[in-house]
Amino acid sequence: MIGKKNMMHELPVEAYTSQEWFDLEQEHIFSKTWQFAGLVEDVSNAGDYISVQAGLNNIFIIKGRDNRLRAFHNMCRHRGTQLLRAVGKNQKAITCPYHDWTYDLEGKLVSIPKKEEEFPDLCNKELHDCGLNLHEASVDIFKGMLFVHPEKNAPNIMEYFGAIEPHLGPHIPEELIEYKEGIYSKEIKSNWKIVIENNIDHYHLAHLHEGTLNMYDHAKAKFGWEGPHYWFFEPLVKDYMNDLKNAVQSPLIDHVPMDKIGAYVPWFFPNIGLAESEASWSTFHVLPLAPDRTLVTFRTKTANVSEWEYTKQAAKSAMSSVWSKYGNKGKYEGDSSDPMASGDFMKEDIYACEQQQKSLSSPMFSVGAQAQRGEFAVSKFQSVVKEWIEKYRDNG
Ligand code: FES
Repeated sequence: MIGKKNMMHELPVEAYTSQEWFDLEQEHIFSKTWQFAGLVEDVSNAGDYISVQAGLNNIFIIKGRDNRLRAFHNMCRHRGTQLLRAVGKNQKAITCPYHDWTYDLEGKLVSIPKKEEEFPDLCNKELHDCGLNLHEASVDIFKGMLFVHPEKNAPNIMEYFGAIEPHLGPHIPEELIEYKEGIYSKEIKSNWKIVIENNIDHYHLAHLHEGTLNMYDHAKAKFGWEGPHYWFFEPLVKDYMNDLKNAVQSPLIDHVPMDKIGAYVPWFFPNIGLAESEASWSTFHVLPLAPDRTLVTFRTKTANVSEWEYTKQAAKSAMSSVWSKYGNKGKYEGDSSDPMASGDFMKEDIYACEQQQKSLSSPMFSVGAQAQRGEFAVSKFQSVVKEWIEKYRDNG
C-alpha cells in the first residue's frame, strides 16, 4: 500500500479521530465483549466489590455471603442512580444514595423507605417479586483476571479466550503478589487503537526501543492470531539468558521453567493485554476515554518472596555486566525528562503514540507502506475492529 490517503491500512483515519466512530465502538465492541474488571483478589471476601465501565454499561462485581461472585448493572431500579463507586470492602447490603432503596448482595430489592405511604401499589407482594431487582450481568475468571459481560447469559468465557491459552506463559498469577508500586495509570493523548497497534507492532521493537528492550531477541520473535486475539513470544538474548540468575533485576518466578523463559505479550480483543516475563506478570488495560484520549493502567505482580530476597537480587543484578550492554539507555541523548532520552520504554511508546495522533489532523497525512512481517498484526487488528463493527451494526 503506497500513500493510501485517508486510510490507516484497513480503517479510515476518522476511526481514530471522530466521535461517531468512538460511539460505534462503545456500542458494538465494548458493550458486547468480555471486559477486564480487575484481579481475583480484588474481591476476596463476602461484601467486597469492584465497579467497571464496560462500554455503555457500568457494572459491579460483588462477592455474596455464599462466596459466589455476581455482577449487576450499577444502576438503581428506582431512577437509575449509580449504586456503588469504584472499589469497596465488606458491604452488607447495597443502598442507593438518592432515596435509600436497598438491595441485598444477590441483587434483590429488600427495602424501600416510606413504602406504604408512597408506593401502595408495591405493597401486596414481597419487594423482590416486584420486578425491580438489579439487572444481572455476567462475571467470570480467566487466568487470575476478572471479566464482566453486560448480558446475563453471556457467551462462555473459555469459548471467547480459550483458543489463545496454549500461547500464554506458564505463569500462575494467583501465586504472585502485587505491591502498591505495581499499579500505574496514565492518560495518553491518542486513540485507543494507536496504543494497541503500538503494543502489537513487532517492527518498532528493535528501533524505538533499541536501548530499552534489547535484552529480548526480537529476531526470534514468534507471533500470530487465534480468533480476534493476538499472541506473541520472544526469547531473551543469549548473554542475558546465560547470566540470568545474577542479572535478573528482581527474583525469578520459580514456577516458570527455564526452557519457557522469555516474554509473552498477548493481546485479548478488544482492550486488555498481558506482559509475562522471567520476573513479572502484568496486565495492561486500555480504556478509551474520547477519540483522542485513552487511559492505560498496568498492574504488575512479582514473586511472592521476602523484601530481603528483592534487595539481594537487586544487588546481584547491579554487579552483572549484562546491563552495561543491554537496557535502560535513551534513544536520544539528553535530559531524562525527555521521553526519548529517558531510557524508559513506556515513555518511548507514549511519545510515539501521541506524535502519531497529532499527525492525523494534518492534510498531508497518509500511511506510507507496511512492513510485511513486522506490521502485519497492525492491519489484522484493524480488520478485527472493522469486522466487529460491521457485524453488529448490520445485525443489531
Ligand atoms: Fe435510587 Fe431513588 S434513584 S433510590
